[in-house]
Parts: sequence; C-alpha cells; structure tokens
Amino acid sequence: MSTARASFTLIAVASRDGFITGPRGEPPREWASPEEQLLFAESVSALDWSFMGRSTHVEAWRPDRRRVVFSRSFRTPLWQHPRRLWVDPERVAFETILAALQPVHPPARCGILGGVQVHDWFAARGLIDAADITIEPVVFGGGLPLFSHGATNDPAAAMAALGLVETNVMTLNAAGSRLHRFSRPASRARR
Ligand SMILES: NC(=O)c1ccc[n+]([C@@H]2O[C@H](COP(=O)([O-])OP(=O)(O)OC[C@H]3O[C@@H](n4cnc5c(N)ncnc54)[C@H](OP(=O)(O)O)[C@@H]3O)[C@@H](O)[C@H]2O)c1
Repeated sequence: MSTARASFTLIAVASRDGFITGPRGEPPREWASPEEQLLFAESVSALDWSFMGRSTHVEAWRPDRRRVVFSRSFRTPLWQHPRRLWVDPERVAFETILAALQPVHPPARCGILGGVQVHDWFAARGLIDAADITIEPVVFGGGLPLFSHGATNDPAAAMAALGLVETNVMTLNAAGSRLHRFSRPASRARR
C-alpha cells in the first residue's frame, strides 16, 4: 500500500503565543472555547484514524475512536483493542503501520493529534499535508509548544516552514477564537 493514498491533517488548538497547553500543562478542555471543542469533536469523528502520543491518548480516552498510539514501549505494533494500534514508529516502517490499519479501516483521512513529539515526528518526515489550528484569545507565556524546535512559536510561521499556506480563517465566536486552515499547494504535494 502507498502512503500517497493517506492524507494527514494536524489538528490543534493553541494560545495566541503558540502553546498547546497552559504553563502548568493545562489541557485544552480547561481553556479552549466551547466552539473549538465542538468543531474538534466533529473533525475527529470524520477521520479514519487519529495518530497521537501515549499521554494524549490516555488523557483524552475515547474507546470508540480509531487510534494509532505512539509509545517506545512496543517493539512491534500491537493491537491492544480492536480500534487501537500501539506502535513505536522508530522501529517499524510507516508503510507497515498503514498496511496494518487497512483491514480494520482504510487510512484515507488521518489526523495528527499531538502532542509535541508526534507533531515533530510527522514534520520531520514531511508528512503533514494540512493543518487546522484554532488560536484562542489567551496568552500563556509558557507551556508545551506546537513543535519542540523551530525559530518561532507562531503557528502560521511554523506552518509556512513546513511548506503549508493559509487557505482560510474562520472566526468561531465573539471572543475572537479563530480557526486557521493550512494546506500544501498542489505543486508541492507529497508523492
Ligand atoms: N492543544 C492541543 O491541540 C493539544 C493536542 C495534543 C495534546 N495536547 C496536550 O499536550 C499534552 C500531552 O502532550 P505531550 O507532548 O506531553 O505528550 P504526547 O505526545 O501525547 O505523549 C508523549 C508520549 O508519547 C510517546 N511518543 C511520542 N512521540 C513518539 C515517537 N516519535 N516515538 C515513540 N513514542 C512517542 C511516548 O510514549 P512512551 O513514554 O510510552 O514511550 C511519549 O512519552 C497533554 O496535556 C495534552 O492535553 C494539546
């Protein structure tokens, strides 16, 4: 199976200064707007598979969702639940992971749901095709960034560095929460 058939969208919510948690690790459910949380739930429901790190999986426990959970504890991919594949992506080829998903549910539209090292992993391999980033009107001054390294904490600049361009901005509420959509121009699409 070819990875060209699967698309990967990074879906995240960030503070105005680019943090995905509060300074003491506060998760989105404590500070994201109800509008973002609703949109996020709808977006994730429409995905074939969500890719995330162990901490995010445990914190946002959803047995009904199809998930690929990254963890270094697994020498080989392991189905611990019919909809949950645990895998160390450093020890198995990405094509093999996608092929393992196929019989359960074809991985056509996939989401990258964090946290930081998972964002880093997909960014380093040029696998982020699109991004839906909601910026909430809060400033944290600290917390987990969208990516662990980079010249900037500005999500738009981080997306530009990945070759993605902003295609749409949607205001979600009167407080000023805004969903920014980014995608890869067709001329620079992954092969
Ligand atoms: N604002 C947002 O949109 C957003 C999105 C996602 C998460 N969050 C927040 O971010 C926090 C969690 O993020 P986090 O970055 O601390 O943790 P995380 O990425 O969810 O989980 C970290 C763990 O995942 C595994 N992992 C991650 N990358 C891996 C890789 N490349 N290879 C193998 N294993 C890998 C490792 O598990 P092992 O230790 O088992 O090896 C690692 O310790 C939570 O508070 C969550 O609420 C916010």
